[in-house]
Amino acid sequence: MERKSTNVVWHKMNVSREDREELLKQKGAVLWFTGLSGSGKSTVASSLEKRLHDMGKLTYTLDGDNVRHGLNSDLGFSDEDRIENIRRIGEISKLFVDAGMITIATFVSPFREDRQKVRELLGKDFVEIYIDCPIEVCEKRDPKGIYKKARAGEIKHFTGIDSPYESPINPEIVVSTHLNTLDECVDKLVAYLEEGLWN
Ligand code: ADX
Repeated sequence: MERKSTNVVWHKMNVSREDREELLKQKGAVLWFTGLSGSGKSTVASSLEKRLHDMGKLTYTLDGDNVRHGLNSDLGFSDEDRIENIRRIGEISKLFVDAGMITIATFVSPFREDRQKVRELLGKDFVEIYIDCPIEVCEKRDPKGIYKKARAGEIKHFTGIDSPYESPINPEIVVSTHLNTLDECVDKLVAYLEEGLWN
């Protein structure tokens, strides 16, 4: 994206990320959930967040549907708008991670290239979590009745139907919501985080 702001100089603050992390007794990171609509991203994230909260971790969830009500309400579902959606969330995640927060991002984020850009932006602080679930199962669940609408042609560019979903090639974690219970999915994530993130 073209940078329009010139004559702006980065200002170094007195309180650093490390200072905040020391205060919070945790390390900032972004747990990036990607998967089809109805795959269980929000459900798993919400349960994980409760578990982390109960462990005394400070967390915040950025959720696709919710962010589209506010900050990204100007964006639709064209490829271009999805790219911008993910770019903005990547930048916000970076700010949250700098704040020391364990940030959970739940976006369909269907394009590999966009997720890769967020990975490059965040480096080691980026944990890609693939919420794996076949579209047939997502469609059967259809909690928002949205697949039904997409099949009826009422929603265009719907991911998995007439817009692509590019599954991750090398995600840090894969969680299969059609094979495991919610608790098992959350256990797997907590075990990974305990091993990889905090030690
Ligand atoms: S993303 O593709 O840009 O990453 P995002 O996660 O923000 O998508 O939003 C997806 C949510 O918007 C879905 O959970 C679904 O409820 C709703 N939605 C509405 N229209 C579409 C569409 N055309 N494709 C996918 N999701 C849609």
